[in-house]
Amino acid sequence: MTDKNRVLIFDTTLRDGEQSPGATMSHDEKLEIAGLLDDMGVDIIEAGFPIASEGDFAAVSEIAKNAKSATICGLARANFKDIDRAWEAVRHAKSPRIHTFIGTSPLHRAIPNLTQDEMAERIHETVTHARNLCDNVQWSPMDATRTEWDYLARVVEIAIRAGATTINIPDTVGYTAPVESADLIRRLIAEVPGAEEVIFSTHCHNDLGMATANSLAAVAGGARQIECTINGLGERAGNTALEEVVMAMKVRHDIMPWTTGVDSTKIMHISRRVATVSGFNVQFNKAIVGKNAFAHESGIHQDGMLKNAETFEIMRPQDVGLSESSLPLGKHSGRAALRAKLKDLGVEMADNQLGDLFVRFKALADRKKEVFDDDLVALVSDAGSADASDHLEVKFLRVICGTEAPQSADLILRVGDAEKRVTAKGDGPVDACFNAVKECFPHGARLQIYQVGAVTEGTDAQATVSVRLEEEGRIATGSSADTDTVVASVKAYVNALNRLILRREKGGTDTPEVSYKDAG
Ligand code: KIV
Ligand code: ZN
Repeated sequence: MTDKNRVLIFDTTLRDGEQSPGATMSHDEKLEIAGLLDDMGVDIIEAGFPIASEGDFAAVSEIAKNAKSATICGLARANFKDIDRAWEAVRHAKSPRIHTFIGTSPLHRAIPNLTQDEMAERIHETVTHARNLCDNVQWSPMDATRTEWDYLARVVEIAIRAGATTINIPDTVGYTAPVESADLIRRLIAEVPGAEEVIFSTHCHNDLGMATANSLAAVAGGARQIECTINGLGERAGNTALEEVVMAMKVRHDIMPWTTGVDSTKIMHISRRVATVSGFNVQFNKAIVGKNAFAHESGIHQDGMLKNAETFEIMRPQDVGLSESSLPLGKHSGRAALRAKLKDLGVEMADNQLGDLFVRFKALADRKKEVFDDDLVALVSDAGSADASDHLEVKFLRVICGTEAPQSADLILRVGDAEKRVTAKGDGPVDACFNAVKECFPHGARLQIYQVGAVTEGTDAQATVSVRLEEEGRIATGSSADTDTVVASVKAYVNALNRLILRREKGGTDTPEVSYKDAG
């Protein structure tokens, strides 16, 4: 890298993000997200933890084969088996990377029960082994920010001498603070022999809400790679949010004169897709990608905005890929208007897909006076719309609900080639509907998440529902959107079941056989 102000963006949505409980994505979803990350100019994609399961291995391998310009990285603990498996998965990439790590703090050293010297030897052997396989090796001392300075400096030097090309400094438990984060990197670069030959990277968790600040401080201290995830997805309070660090460096370039290769106009689209496929909704007031991030509702703000947008806006909505015009479509809008609006929203579609979407758009416009941008996004992501190849399809639903319990649902469900009709009762309309689905199609899947959100304001707003099911270690998330919350719920449930059926046919499980927290 010749430009000293260029910061590499290393996205770990598909590894650290996806490994957080409940955020499991399907194989196809991982491929889709990797494609979007590659298109938006992310430098390195950590595609998974290949030893964790057959599914992880298959996803990392396919992402590696398909990658156009991003480096594809696979995670491995500090043992030869993990490293070989990671290499096997990423080796097909035009630019592969192995990322190997071990917990170096006193608490983490106690897990494999290694002395400082034994661990140092392990680091030397494993980094050397990784470097013999691949020219591009990243090494991380997990829990670096709680590792004794002398020991940290010693093992970083060992990793550099063994051939690591990137040294990543993780704040695994989100414990550090900006001043400390900058100082640590600065000191490592100044005092560790060989430090000038490698790139220092920062990997922050958000337990104290300081991940973005800590990452940027690390860059001020000399780091030139930030590890992050879309929407800050990740375990506990999550990881550094990609959209936050990228936009902070862009908007405050005057005091943070660093650049990235990320096309920020692609941020909104990928944020929405990650939220949909992971089932982790973005909080309304989340920086950059929250629904309210560019909404100016109070009278005073609106007045100022109309006179001069800069009064209350430090970046333009278009800079992050929000549509320039928020004019809604209606039932008289034609195909061309729909296509133009989708283009504005960063959604490209083939003609046949557009045809299908247009039919669903018209149906929605018949029920809803104005179809807003968010309605369209929900329509595009509406996985719950029927597909003839699906095993299950909702054909008819009528629900009786009111103040008197129990509520009941009359459902016709296509199961394979047969249509089944049942009436079931439940504790509320959604419970009654789910019971009806279970009667038509008995199954042992356990409901893990049932989540409802309103796409826009108003009583005719579409509801988006996501449902996560688990059966024998396999996980599937279904989603749907409809102006009728109960209909959206049943379709999301049936969509999740259809995905589970596909997963069953393919075999394997989504539950990793090993976790990166297991001592390697
Ligand atoms: O948080 C962490 O320490 C990690 C490592 C595996 C890099 O995710
Ligand atoms: Zn992490």
